[in-house]
Amino acid sequence: MSSFFARNLKRSYPTVSGASGAWVEDEDGKKYLDGCSGAVAANLGHGVAEIKAAIIDQLDRVAFAHTSQFISEPALLLADALIELAGKSFKGGKVYFSSGGTEAVETALKLARAFYCERDGVSTRSLYISRWNSYHGSTFGALSITGHPARRKPYYSLLRDQPHISPAYPYRCPCGFGPGPCSSVDCSLARADELEATILRVGPENVVAFIAEPIVGAALGAVGPVGPYWQRIGEICTRHDILFIADEVMTGLGRAGANFALDRWAVKPDIIVVGKGLAAGYVPLSAVIASPKVVAPFLSEKSSGAFEHGFTYSGHPLACAAGLAVIEYMKKHGTIASVAAREAAFQSRLQAMMQFDFVGDVRSYGFLGGIEFVADRKTKKPFPVELKMHRLVADQSMKDGLMVYPGAGFVDGGGGGDHVIVAPPLNISDQDMDTLFVRLTQVFSGISKQLMAVRT
Ligand SMILES: Cc1ncc(COP(=O)(O)O)c(C=O)c1O
Repeated sequence: MSSFFARNLKRSYPTVSGASGAWVEDEDGKKYLDGCSGAVAANLGHGVAEIKAAIIDQLDRVAFAHTSQFISEPALLLADALIELAGKSFKGGKVYFSSGGTEAVETALKLARAFYCERDGVSTRSLYISRWNSYHGSTFGALSITGHPARRKPYYSLLRDQPHISPAYPYRCPCGFGPGPCSSVDCSLARADELEATILRVGPENVVAFIAEPIVGAALGAVGPVGPYWQRIGEICTRHDILFIADEVMTGLGRAGANFALDRWAVKPDIIVVGKGLAAGYVPLSAVIASPKVVAPFLSEKSSGAFEHGFTYSGHPLACAAGLAVIEYMKKHGTIASVAAREAAFQSRLQAMMQFDFVGDVRSYGFLGGIEFVADRKTKKPFPVELKMHRLVADQSMKDGLMVYPGAGFVDGGGGGDHVIVAPPLNISDQDMDTLFVRLTQVFSGISKQLMAVRT
């Protein structure tokens, strides 16, 4: 038995041996179509020559230099490129680099608190408001604000008790709308107004920030709100002088068919967190993009200018060179615009999966698609937890040479509810996209038969 601490020590995993474009190969020569960019990270597929060349070029110059001693050209250029992508309101802002999504979320949480300390002197603010059915990362800080009961439960007594509000989740709207998703703007805004009610309950002077995924990824499967929900959230944060942090670790950098998912609602947060697609899986890299408002107190006369925080590998030159090459590739190939142009076709192919009666809902933004499974379409009852429907689908997909990203445990806090995310590389060819949906349909036909056997 290997010494490698696998995700699940009782499962076996194929050993990866190669990859090219949207295809990944194991040591037995079996090929898998990457229908979820690994974990919605390998956004440009595998083996992109320009990215490889940029990494090797940087490796030849200098791989590592610590940010307490040096800054590096790729870090400077990537920071500028991210500020430009974030748009006019971020001009004059700053970018803090880290290695993974969780690290970046932790950075954003600390930066938000440090902002108030710098601006107001010692701050009493200690609360972060977030949403149920969210995923923000796996360390204690990020897990405290994560709204995924199953991931929190084993560590519950060690987490900080932070307020969570309801998500905007049209398919399971509290109004009971069905069998499809609720399209009521009033319902959606009522969820946003929970933020204001919570702020008033705890006192705005005690709140540091509101943090949310503009489109919920791992914890719900590509769920966004109806109507001007994000505008309302932005207004509430501004009205109560609370920072708005957009966790775009999964949705940022083109995944949702825009630079950042919140651009779809024309809303600008105070802080944007990115990871996953930033270096597209080539190396670990994440970042916090801070608006000028957040940076200003650190530049004031009375401030020391220091943000009391840091990682050894922050701003790693090799990682930043990869991130820069990813952005340059996307600009050169018009990748984000092409996702936007192909989004409707992707959505209608996902919609076709409704032909299977165990599919309750499908939703998508750009190339981020979610398929939610139900035992009963009319009542939206989820499958029994023990069935592990999400695993059943993901495992069958792997058998059939397709990768999809499974998630579960979002209904009623009891571990019920299953979905898979379909999120191919943003530059997937039309032919590979066809193959993806042919295979997905085959997988679902196989699942249909398995369910028939369970039901009879
Ligand atoms: C929205 C969001 N935030 C944070 C994270 C944590 O990122 P990482 O797994 O890179 O630490 C994830 C990972 O899935 C995520 O989707």
